Amino acid sequence: MKQSRTQKIIVVGATGLIGTQVVAQLSLGDRVPGYEVMGVTHETEPGLDLTSPPSLQRFMDTVRGFDHLVVTAGDARFGGFDALDAAAFEVGLRSKLMGQVNVAMAALRVLPPGGSVTLTSGQLAHTPIPGSAAVAMVNGAIESFVRAIALDAPAGRRINAVSPGWIKETMLRMGMDPGPGTSAWDVARLYVEAVEGAMSGEVIEA
Ligand SMILES: NC(=O)c1ccc[n+]([C@@H]2O[C@H](COP(=O)([O-])OP(=O)(O)OC[C@H]3O[C@@H](n4cnc5c(N)ncnc54)[C@H](OP(=O)(O)O)[C@@H]3O)[C@@H](O)[C@H]2O)c1
Repeated sequence: MKQSRTQKIIVVGATGLIGTQVVAQLSLGDRVPGYEVMGVTHETEPGLDLTSPPSLQRFMDTVRGFDHLVVTAGDARFGGFDALDAAAFEVGLRSKLMGQVNVAMAALRVLPPGGSVTLTSGQLAHTPIPGSAAVAMVNGAIESFVRAIALDAPAGRRINAVSPGWIKETMLRMGMDPGPGTSAWDVARLYVEAVEGAMSGEVIEA
């Protein structure tokens, strides 16, 4: 739902590869309605540590009255069969999965009508590679959560996920051929579409 007043939007993971580009696009002066963007990480003040429910509670008590929330953060461990012990799985469950789920539930409870939540999954959910089981599992769970919770969210509040594939900048950093990748700028566009569109319960793929 478009509104004429400036809308307040929180981006969790704002200093990261994807988050930086999301903040940049939302901050462009020609956007209607225009956004007041609040970039957040576990190290900002106020901050939000995805892995810490008390930190989420403090954040929600401090930051009131926002229209949209985007999460471009969340860790999960890569590792082959022998590396995947319970602790390795736990990283993704605590951070990328339950970190995002807890933030989404808290936001959906306070968003105004027309408000939205956009989470991050990843294409490993349905195109895994060796060593990606813990990451793929978490990505798939996020996508299932988004599709289902959209059916129960308070009326007029939307929730979606962006599912990035390999990002060119990440591939370059890892010494891979960036050719098949998507730039962080192009992926960021999908988050803006999720904020400004009318869809809910969707997984938007790069
Ligand atoms: N890059 C890719 O190719 C790719 C592909 C598919 C999916 N994804 C997913 O996209 C998401 C973002 O990826 P990215 O490459 O942009 O990551 P990134 O560059 O590492 O950025 C992560 C961001 O999250 C913040 N952060 C880290 N731990 C946090 C915590 N516990 N609580 C709150 N914020 C925290 C970081 O802050 P600091 O910098 O201060 O630590 C940073 O702003 C991840 O979930 C990743 O799995 C990425």
